[in-house]
Amino acid sequence: MKFFIDTAKVEDIKKANDMGIICGVTTNPSLIAKEGRDFNEVIKEIASIVDGPISGEVKATTTDAEGMIKEGREIAAIHPNMVVKIPMTVEGLKAVKVLSAEGIKTNVTLIFSANQALLAARAGATYVSPFLGRLDDISTDGVELIETIAEMFAVADIPTEIIAASVRHPMHVTQCALAGADIATVPYAVLEKMTQHPLTDAGIEKFQKDYIAVFGE
Ligand code: E4P
Repeated sequence: MKFFIDTAKVEDIKKANDMGIICGVTTNPSLIAKEGRDFNEVIKEIASIVDGPISGEVKATTTDAEGMIKEGREIAAIHPNMVVKIPMTVEGLKAVKVLSAEGIKTNVTLIFSANQALLAARAGATYVSPFLGRLDDISTDGVELIETIAEMFAVADIPTEIIAASVRHPMHVTQCALAGADIATVPYAVLEKMTQHPLTDAGIEKFQKDYIAVFGE
């Protein structure tokens, strides 16, 4: 399983990119709004940092296929690494069909069932994004959904990649990797937590103490 970072915060993207652990970025309308900056400006800056797929979503207020297709083409024109994020609706599927026929990569977002994932894949989506945290929030097993989609895609030999989204903590990451997600898109805070272990800290402290005792500072 590969990692994308799920944020529009440029400092966090730089930090994760410098660690060499991410190969893509996902944003959504809430994450862009949080930065309070122009969409194109933020996306261009992100594209100058990470050399990999960057998901930019159509406007939250655009709900018709025609509008999503127009915006999708504009998003794709920003940079060759752009992936157009489209919500999982009937209109969204129509837009995915047209954009994918034009060779534009798409990421169908807000997936909460295996059937939604299958429909998005058949419409031509490059990626599907099941939101596991939001399912867990309503007492439904998000990891189980990833498992089912992975099995379904394997059975039918579907090339659409699964991006585990709405990842809330390090255990989600391990579970998604085992469930068959191709990618997990993870907030910086969770990536940072994944680097940590109290025994690593204790080990570093002991190595320093033992070294200094014999060789000095
Ligand atoms: C995925 O592409 C979304 O941006 C994201 O993972 C949503 O996560 P949330 O449920 O924590 O907002």
